Amino acid sequence: MSLTLGIETSCDETSVAVVEDGRKVLANIIHSQLDLHRDFGGVVPELAARDHLERLPHIVEGAMEEAGVRPADLDLLAVTRGPGLVGCLLVGVGVGEGLAAAWSKPVTGVNHLWGHIYAAMLSQPDLEPPLLGLVVSGAHSDLVRMPEHGRFEVIGRTRDDAAGEAFDKAARMLGLGYPGGPALDRLARTGDPRTQSLPRPSLPGFEYSFSGLKTALLYRLRGLGEVDDQTRADLAAAFEESVVESLLEKLAAVLDHEGSREVVVCGGVAANALLRKRAAEVVGNRARLTIPPHELCTDNAAMIAAAGFKTIGQPTKVDPSLSW
Ligand code: KG4
Ligand code: ZN
Repeated sequence: MSLTLGIETSCDETSVAVVEDGRKVLANIIHSQLDLHRDFGGVVPELAARDHLERLPHIVEGAMEEAGVRPADLDLLAVTRGPGLVGCLLVGVGVGEGLAAAWSKPVTGVNHLWGHIYAAMLSQPDLEPPLLGLVVSGAHSDLVRMPEHGRFEVIGRTRDDAAGEAFDKAARMLGLGYPGGPALDRLARTGDPRTQSLPRPSLPGFEYSFSGLKTALLYRLRGLGEVDDQTRADLAAAFEESVVESLLEKLAAVLDHEGSREVVVCGGVAANALLRKRAAEVVGNRARLTIPPHELCTDNAAMIAAAGFKTIGQPTKVDPSLSW
């Protein structure tokens, strides 16, 4: 049995987890900084980094206690090294390296994007590469193939906004405040996408683009002037439908093109109800689909521990623009 302590601080969640053998979550404490950033309408990097630094030691203690482990029981520490906000990453890596030195344990750096894929392995015990992944978060909309552990090949990505970013901006236009994605998800459930349908972005190949859709929503809102609650819900539903259809159209095309026995849809946007439902329909019985439960879709340290366990030996050097 091997125990990994994971640390995630790439953006506005401070999270520490203990994971057994890269598969079983013994503890996964997630502190969201939402209240800290809400008044600013988005994450303030300086505030985020300071808050990580203040909270991380207590959260490490809390996670160890919850998992019932002592430092001597640990086999590995895994810390997110990028992509993310540089100050936030430095806090996580600094604390992780400090603890590893104090406890004489190895420490490995983890690519946050890899982490999102490994989240799926925490919810599907026998899931192994090769697999096809759709990673949709606040900063990424990437279609990747994972031929083996620790190896990823990008098939397509977004040319402009990421899906989560598009949801957040649309939510702001609709007066939903921050964070927008989950609020838009809720509002869209009471709307009818057909009454306010918006264009579905479509680029050739496997690339995404969401900035045109965002502009279409902006112009629609300007054209409508004052909108009542039902119209706002209809617009939210139409926007959501366009994003989801666009994401899944490319996923289906890759499946048609090269096939895969395993498909993973993950990242914060994979918490979206419509995306979860439609992904199941689109994949059907062509492959096995794994979408992690909500708490493992959004940022968390259990996925970092799982990825670190399988890809041990990666550098810990912070790289805010790290890619696949
Ligand atoms: O993976 P994540 O927690 O952080 C990044 O690595 O970026 O993703 C955060 C993104 C945000 O844009 C948020 O609005 C979006 O995921 N999100 C959602 C939902 N829950 C979170 N978007 C749509 N529907 C949701 N239910
Ligand atoms: Zn993330």
